[in-house]
Amino acid sequence: NYYAILMAGGVGSRFWPVSTAEFPKQFHDMLGAGNTLIQKTFQRLSHLIPKENIYILTNERYNDLVLEQLPEVTQKQVVLEPAMRNTAPCILYASLKIQKENPDAIMIVAPSDHWIEDEKAFSKNVQEAFDYCSQNDALMTLGIKPSFPNTGYGYIEFDKTAEKVIKPVNQFREKPDYETAKAFIDQGNFLWNAGIFMWSAKSVIKAFQNNQPDLYSLFKSGIGVYNTEDETGFIKDNYPKAENISVDYAIMEKSDNVKVIAAEFDWNDLGTWGSLYDKLDKDENNNAVSNARNLAENATGNLIRTKTDKIVVVDGLNDYIIVDNEDTLLIYPKAKEQDIKQVLQRVKSNF
Ligand code: GDD
Ligand code: MG
Repeated sequence: NYYAILMAGGVGSRFWPVSTAEFPKQFHDMLGAGNTLIQKTFQRLSHLIPKENIYILTNERYNDLVLEQLPEVTQKQVVLEPAMRNTAPCILYASLKIQKENPDAIMIVAPSDHWIEDEKAFSKNVQEAFDYCSQNDALMTLGIKPSFPNTGYGYIEFDKTAEKVIKPVNQFREKPDYETAKAFIDQGNFLWNAGIFMWSAKSVIKAFQNNQPDLYSLFKSGIGVYNTEDETGFIKDNYPKAENISVDYAIMEKSDNVKVIAAEFDWNDLGTWGSLYDKLDKDENNNAVSNARNLAENATGNLIRTKTDKIVVVDGLNDYIIVDNEDTLLIYPKAKEQDIKQVLQRVKSNF
């Protein structure tokens, strides 16, 4: 009864110019590991879930990329979105399809672009969650011990008194402001949301029904069409009408049956150039260079990554991101990495 929903529809705009709307980061070998992030994630999930039950949710335009990078996957497993509406609509859509195929489905919803070191510990935690949501109506998430008031994450306040592995959640807060995040961390009983969820198809659909009635009725009206030839037409007409909202705001913040397991593995969501830099090998001056022809002199803490093995010489520059693709070169301070999203918008409107 185990299924996976692999979310692979984001554009990774904070990894511009390597990640682009045509070729987003999940389809790149960001870590130089010999496989792309989506391939690595698929492998990780296939230890727990039959390969034919792993569904890839993505935008229409990435269909070919998915089939090319994951040759084990059939077209049936690639769930295509005709418009970008963030994670809530695609999760509800895929859950309705899966429930039609198997009403007792238990599933994991996972981003396609995370780094996880210890796969055994990951499998153990997911199995614990699967066992629990087979028996209980719960929305389960994996929590990461926070290290600083990062405002790009969801925060989970867990019940301190709970002694079991699976802890009840008092509140789920998506992307709080800096002051709130800081107060949460000082309080001690908060975890970061890893963005990896486990639940039964029944529980997640019920959560949408209760908390997002409009979205639920929009997709529910096509209930008979899922997994039939009429589905594509129905989705083409109706999917773009869905509200643009993430699963965190849509159901996690609003539900009272959220549970968390503190992850026993190291995790990095590879959300920004800085988080990638943290994971890469560095030279004696803490520069992460992409090849032996990158020369960093009187320079520390830089990330240098070029598309080809071109020669790059950097002198007197510290804590910068230096990356290129065919037509773009970005030289940008690491401290402002979150702004790259906006830079990309400005570039788009100017050139
Ligand atoms: N199929 C599909 N369609 N996937 C999408 C879409 C979409 O429209 N939008 C985003 N995704 C994918 C992204 O590619 C990514 O793998 C995942 O869904 C999460 O989206 P992000 O945009 O990266 O979310 P976030 O980083 O802002 O926040 C989430 O992740 C954090 C941890 O990394 C939240 O769950 C936070 O609470 C969490 O802390
Ligand atoms: Mg993310």
